[in-house]
Amino acid sequence: MPPTAVHAETFLHHIELQSPNPGALARFYGAAMDMRVETLEGGRLLCVGPSRRMLFADGPQQKMGFAAFACRDRDGLDDLRAHAQGADAPMVASPSPLFGPEAFAVRDPDGNIVVFGLAPENDPQPKGITGPLQHVTLGTSDVTAIEKFYTEKLGFLLSDRVFNEQGDLTTCFMRSNHEHHTLGCFRSPKVGIDHHSYEAGEWDRIRDWCDHFATKDIQLMWGPGRHGPGNNLFIFIADPDGNWIEVSAEIEIMRDRKVKHWPHGERTLNLWGRAILRS
Ligand SMILES: [Fe+2]
Repeated sequence: MPPTAVHAETFLHHIELQSPNPGALARFYGAAMDMRVETLEGGRLLCVGPSRRMLFADGPQQKMGFAAFACRDRDGLDDLRAHAQGADAPMVASPSPLFGPEAFAVRDPDGNIVVFGLAPENDPQPKGITGPLQHVTLGTSDVTAIEKFYTEKLGFLLSDRVFNEQGDLTTCFMRSNHEHHTLGCFRSPKVGIDHHSYEAGEWDRIRDWCDHFATKDIQLMWGPGRHGPGNNLFIFIADPDGNWIEVSAEIEIMRDRKVKHWPHGERTLNLWGRAILRS
C-alpha cells in the first residue's frame, strides 16, 4: 500500500469535541489554550488560535465528533480519496463546517469519524502562544484493527509499536507527514478519543505554557516527562469534561528508519518517571 496520507503531507487541522455543556468547554479552551471563541451558524462553538482550531458541539461528555486532517493541496486530497475508495473504506459526508465541499470523511472500525479536506485560504488567526494542533490519539479494544484501517485504507505510515509480554499489540503510532505521529492508538477500556496534543516545538515553550496555565490556576495532571516513542517532551492538563490535553515539544522528525518495537511499561510512556498506562 502506498503511503498516500504521507505523500499528501496530511496534518491535523481541527477536532470537534462534544459536551453536555459546550459553551463552558469552549470558554475553558479559549482561556487555557489561548484561543478566541466564536459562535458559528447552527450553534457550534469554534476556538481559534495560531494554527489551532477546536470545535465544540452538544453531545455526550468526552465524545469526539470528528477529527479533521488537511492535505497539502487538491492533488494530495484527490489521491487520498481515491486510495480510501479503492480500499473500500466506509465513506460518510464531511461534517466539518471549516472545510469546503471537496472534503470527505471515513468511519473507522470503532465508529470514529475522520475528515480529510483542504485548509481554507486567507484564514486569519489571532496571535498567541505557539502550539499548533498536532496529533490525536484513540482508545480501542483492537489496536490491530485500527492500525490496519489507517495504514491500509488511508496510507498512514507506522512509526512505532508497543507490545506486552504476551506479544499483544497494545499501542501504535502512525504518521501522515514527517512528524513521528499525527495519530496514535492505545488499547484501552475507553473507546474513542484518548487525548489530543499541541506541538510547542521548543522545550522552553513548555515553560511558557506552564506559566500560562498557572495564571489560569490550571494544574498539570501529568508531566513534565519524555515519551519513548516520538521522544517528545510533554505535559498534560484535563479540561472540565475530563478530556486530556497534551502540550508537547521536540517530537521526532522521521526520516528513513525502521518501525521500532517498545515494551509495554511505564518507561516507554515516560522515560523520566510515572506513566499513565491505558491497559
Ligand atoms: Fe500524545
